[in-house]
Order: sequence, then C-alpha cells, then structure tokens
Amino acid sequence: MPTITINGVACEFAKGERVLDIANRCGVEIPQYCYHPGLSVPAQCRICLAEIHAPNARNENKLEPMMGGKLLPTCATDASDGMVVFADNPKSVANQKAVMEYLLINHPLDCPVCDQAGECFLQDYSYKYGRGTSRFEETKVKQPKKDLGPNVFIYSDRCIMCTRCVRFTREVPGTGEIMIDGRGNRSEIDVFPGVPLDNDLSANVVDLCPVGALLDKDFLFAQRVWLLKSTATLDGLTSSGDNVWADHNEGRVHRFRPRENMDTNTWWITDEVRYAWKHVHSDARLAEPMRRERRELIETDWQRAIAQMLEGIRDGDGTLAVLISPMLACEEAYALAKLARTLDPNALLALGAVPFDGDDVAYTNPAAGRPFVKRAEKAPNARGVQRVLDALGGDTADFAGFLNRLGHGSGRSDIGAVVLTGNYASRWATPDLLGSLGGKHVTLIDTLTSELVEHADVVLPSCTWLEKAGTFENVDNRIQAFDRAIVPLGESKPEGQIALDALAVLAGDDLGRPRATYAMMIVDDGPGQVPAATASVATPLTEPFDAADVRREMAADTPALEVFVTDIAEPVRATKPQPDAPIVEL
Ligand code: SF4
Ligand code: FES
Repeated sequence: MPTITINGVACEFAKGERVLDIANRCGVEIPQYCYHPGLSVPAQCRICLAEIHAPNARNENKLEPMMGGKLLPTCATDASDGMVVFADNPKSVANQKAVMEYLLINHPLDCPVCDQAGECFLQDYSYKYGRGTSRFEETKVKQPKKDLGPNVFIYSDRCIMCTRCVRFTREVPGTGEIMIDGRGNRSEIDVFPGVPLDNDLSANVVDLCPVGALLDKDFLFAQRVWLLKSTATLDGLTSSGDNVWADHNEGRVHRFRPRENMDTNTWWITDEVRYAWKHVHSDARLAEPMRRERRELIETDWQRAIAQMLEGIRDGDGTLAVLISPMLACEEAYALAKLARTLDPNALLALGAVPFDGDDVAYTNPAAGRPFVKRAEKAPNARGVQRVLDALGGDTADFAGFLNRLGHGSGRSDIGAVVLTGNYASRWATPDLLGSLGGKHVTLIDTLTSELVEHADVVLPSCTWLEKAGTFENVDNRIQAFDRAIVPLGESKPEGQIALDALAVLAGDDLGRPRATYAMMIVDDGPGQVPAATASVATPLTEPFDAADVRREMAADTPALEVFVTDIAEPVRATKPQPDAPIVEL
C-alpha cells in the first residue's frame, strides 16, 4: 500500500486520495475552510497550504520540494507514494497565521451573540492558528443581514467567502440560487434577484457554512450549542433511513443535523427530514391514558387502562385485529404481534397505511457517485414491520385488507376488537377507517390526538421515535438501529413497553410497582440535562422495554428474524471534544 507522511505521521492511502482527505482520515489536523468532501474543490481559502516534498523519479527518487518549495493546497493535491507533507513547518504556520489575520480583518467578532459560537471553525482556528492580537486599525467594512429564503438568514459580515454554499446549490440540488455579488472586500453572498433559496435541500447550507454567516431561522437564538447533547437517530418521517443527529437539551429537541453515512444520505438531509421533529413537542400530543366510562372518555392510570383494553378484547365478539403502523420500530411490531397472538391465536395482523406524496426526487451528488434521493414514501419502517409480519405468518393483511375485514364496503365483519397504532406526524385516520369501527371494541395507541380518539374505548399515549430506541428498515432494506434522544412526554410509553406491560398482566404479574431503575435509566446524564429527581416519566408496569433484548429474542424465536442480530447497523455514539480549560461550576 502506498504511504505518505503528514506532519511526521505515516499514513497509508488509496490511489486518487488527496492529501487533505488522508490527513482527515488519519486524524492529522490540517486547518481547512473551503474544502468539503461532498463538493468540488476550488482551493479558495488557502489555509490548508503546506510544503510538500516528493520523490523525483528523474533524480534517483530523491525527495525534493514540489513546485520549488512553494506552499501547495493539500485539499487539491493528489497523494503519491513517498510524499512528505509539512503543514506544521514555519512556512506553513506563517501562511495559516496570515490567512487567519486576513479573514478576521472585517469580521465583526460578535461571538457572544452568534449561534455558531462553540462550533465555529473561525473561532477554533483563531485560537489554534491565529495571532493573539489584531493589527488592523482602519474601519471595518459592514455588511447587511439578509433573508435568503424560508429557512435561512445570512449575516453577511461573518462570511469568509469559502463558497461552500454557492457550490452546494449548484452541484447538489442544481438550483444555483446563491451567488457572490460584488468584488474584493465588498463581495457578498446573496441570492439572485427574485430567486429565494427555496429548494428541498436548502438548509444544508447552514451545516456547510464553517462560520456563523448562514443561520437556520428555526434554530436562531434557540440554544447555546455547548448545552446541546447529540443523539444518533434516523429520519423518522420517510423511508430514506437518513442518518441524523438529534440535538436536544432538557428534554426538548432543538435541531436535526445530517450524520454522515455513505451508505444512506452521504452528507445531506432534506428540509422535510430536518424539521420532521416538530410534532414531537406538539400541543396535540396525547399524554395521559384514557378509558371510556358511561360513553365519556376519562383520564385514568396505566393499570386500569390496560385492564380495560384486555377485558374489551377478551369480550369482543369475533377475531382480534391489530393494525401495526409503519411508523413503529421493528421490535415494537414484534412485541405487539406477540401480544395479539397471545390474546387470540387467530388474530389478524395488518401493516398500517403507508402514505406517499408524489414521486421520489433524485438530486445529483457527484462527489458521492450516486444521487441523493428525496423519498415519496412518508413512513420510515414499512419494510421492517412487513418483515416481522411475514416472519410470524398466520392471518396478515395490508391496510386495504384490514379495512375489508372490518367490513368496509360489505358491512360484514368477523372482527370483534381492534387495536390501532398510529404514531404518524399528522392526522392519519381515513373516513373509511372511521366508518368501519362501529360495533367493535377499539383500543387506540397513538401520539397525536385525532378523530380516532372519539371512536376509541381505550386510548393509550405512545412515544415518538425520538423518545425510544429501536430499528427501522429503509427503502434499500438496510436495517439500522437508533438511540433514544429525549425522555417520553407525560405518561406516554413506547408501543413495545405497552405490549410488554399487557403481556405481564396476562401472565398474572403484580402491577403498579414503580421501577426506580427505569427512571434512572432513561434520564439524560449530560450537562444541563434533566436531573433524575425531577424527571417526570411514566414508569413501566413490568420490565423496561429494551430494544436490543427484543432483537435477540426475535432472532432466537424466529429464524427468519435472525437478521436483527446478524445484519444490523448500530448507531454511532457522539463524542464531544473535551474542553481545554476546566469548567467552573457557578
Ligand atoms: S456564507 Fe458561509 S458557506 Fe457561504 S461563502 Fe460565506 S462562509 Fe462560506
Ligand atoms: S481547504 Fe484547501 S484551500 Fe481551502
């Protein structure tokens, strides 16, 4: 394998890799602004320059400085065997200091009020590579704040003209709304007149901006980034399986960012996925169990709600039918199916409605070598739930088949009790479903309130995917696990936990014993997070639902589900850089 030495560290590389790529992969730091692996390489910012020596074949392979010893952009220089790169010699360091001084000449130095502070490359490199003081005595050029489109503001005077945003809109969505207006120190990033930054991927420019110039309107002044804790999760809205960081603090999600994964979303996410967490904190969330008594729905506790659900199912005149939503994790589908078949061995298991919106839209993604696709299928786990149902066999159906069995169209039905799961990001009950529920005992397990509540005998509040762990199978049949990000809202519980609790009741377990370990287990432990003593979470009636345990059980019980142990992509864990100064508690 060919080898290159960067700042004294020997690194193996593959043909075609650039020096900066290799340094990034091997953990050798070379400062960089304009370079991004998903975009073209203009070598614009000049901070990655280094002195590079290479063997000269015409001089017995003796090591000689390339370009007569001039500094070369490592981001645009292909590696060759035996190269030696000096990004930390006096000449390279002098260039780094000069670039930093130049970039800060007109910068407003408004870090205390800047959203990017704490994750800003200008700030970090200023400490590491900049001068301690400024020699600039003239008046700074002031530039405006501008509204670029529905999701993005620009604070122009923070811009360092790296052109990442310009290249992104041209190279990935292909819409090219962003341009450079003006020349020299009067250059400004702007949109073309009458062409707002309004494409499906628009807010990726906020992640790309290495400084605080491009800002997400939704996150503006919402949180200081050092208070945020990042959890590796997935797109919970569409079938893409896009990898995402959920950034949250004190039980509230504040933003989503793409999590690089070359097998799924590469470096990007759509705006649809980016803001798909909004309903998690909606006022329309179901937060308390309810049961119907003398035609009125009344709030109740979990024990009574589950007892009434089981009683209603047992007393139902006919077969049990369970609708398992494609918004649920695979482990929950399995737990609910197991509950259903325990209650009624002939129970009908059906996959919930899979919503579609238009067609898939493919965007060019030249650096990845394949398109980035916005998915029309608006459910994250239809394939995973179907896989579980297929493996369990017996009486199964799709949503249309489920409606038919409820008597839609014919008025004839063999179903006596229905368990409906939803967990969609918006209202999902169709008139056909609402019209087919009459005469059956209905248990609704859902996150958002809807017309279905009025048809239900028992309502059990469930958690969104950010409040629990599990696995989703995406459109390419990739099975990916995700972690829980925040504590469940109010009394809500994961659907899998509800199934486990109900199974325990059937097995004659003593109910209502609070499990202190559960509260401890699910409370965030990072700085600024919900302390255990004040966390308000619904304790399970039985053992806590552990998605990893259920996956092992699935594989052990059903050979067709062994993939949930053998072929699962685990989420990465966030690693936060350690502060270089001790934190003083105030
Ligand atoms: S706005 Fe940000 S991404 Fe765009 S050129 Fe300026 S610094 Fe680069
Ligand atoms: S990162 Fe190489 S010139 Fe900007």
